[in-house]
Amino acid sequence: MRFRRFFQKQKEWNELLKRYGSDILSSDNFKKTREYIQHGNMTVNSHCINVAIYSLAISKKLKIACNRRELVRGALLHDYFLYDWHDKYHRDIKSLHGFYHPGIALRNAMKEYELTEREKDIIKKHMWPLTIIPPQCREAWIVTMADKYCSLLETMKIHKDHIRYMPVKTEKMSVSERQGIAG
Ligand SMILES: [Fe+2]
Ligand SMILES: [Fe+2]
Repeated sequence: MRFRRFFQKQKEWNELLKRYGSDILSSDNFKKTREYIQHGNMTVNSHCINVAIYSLAISKKLKIACNRRELVRGALLHDYFLYDWHDKYHRDIKSLHGFYHPGIALRNAMKEYELTEREKDIIKKHMWPLTIIPPQCREAWIVTMADKYCSLLETMKIHKDHIRYMPVKTEKMSVSERQGIAG
């Protein structure tokens, strides 16, 4: 009975992700995030999908009325920085990654998608309080909470990824690719 409810919920969340974010989920650059590690063995791709699902779950559980389309799209793109922050090319900025990556993610996302003000706020502020200025909408607060929760579970290795990690052949990458700037 519990399992049935669990799978039903998963199906429900997956349907919402597809309804609101199918273009993002099927894009080449978003698929590329399967090659980058976020925390533990969790890829950036799985992390962003988890954050989107947890954001939907938090808004439902806490009965927070919000725009689910913007919630899902902002959550999927919140870490769209498109580089592996653990690799040798980013060792120098590793300690500053937390401060810089929301801006890089926003720049990359804006090149490919027409973002609403709420979606921009979600991406820009998800690292609050590091970003100093707090989120300006409910959707951004929810994603900020979901991101922190998922990151904690990943760092403690309670959340593990089941997709095999495939490192990128960085030697063949252009400078802009290494810096995570979408073409
Ligand atoms: Fe992030
Ligand atoms: Fe994140």
